[in-house]
Amino acid sequence: MPWVGAGIPDLADADWTEWALAAKFRESAFLFPIRDKVLDHAAVGIGDVVLDVGTGDGLIAFAALERIGPTGRMIFSDVAQGLLDHCRAEAERLRVLDH
Ligand SMILES: C[S@@+](CC[C@H](N)C(=O)[O-])C[C@H]1O[C@@H](n2cnc3c(N)ncnc32)[C@H](O)[C@@H]1O
Repeated sequence: MPWVGAGIPDLADADWTEWALAAKFRESAFLFPIRDKVLDHAAVGIGDVVLDVGTGDGLIAFAALERIGPTGRMIFSDVAQGLLDHCRAEAERLRVLDH
């Protein structure tokens, strides 16, 4: 995959899987406050149906799942099949696939 700028993949490249799943990136907890601010601004709450377009590895979507609770529905959407496969496996592991 071509890498440009500060480690961000070329937008023309359809497969973000390698970038999104790179451990050095995801181990960085600096993204968590940004993720939480996004969800605060979107006012995500109990029972909501949430669509995450470009979900990547589910950084935002899995946190949203905790906010919407068992009555809500979370839709993971991404152009990269590898990332959707990753999110599905993680949802199965967390036993939230039915949400
Ligand atoms: C910068 S990453 C953000 C990932 C995630 N939302 C996060 O905050 O960590 C952009 C994501 O958008 C996805 N993407 C790019 N173009 C897309 C498109 N046309 N439709 C859906 N997803 C797309 C990429 O595969 C990638 O997972």
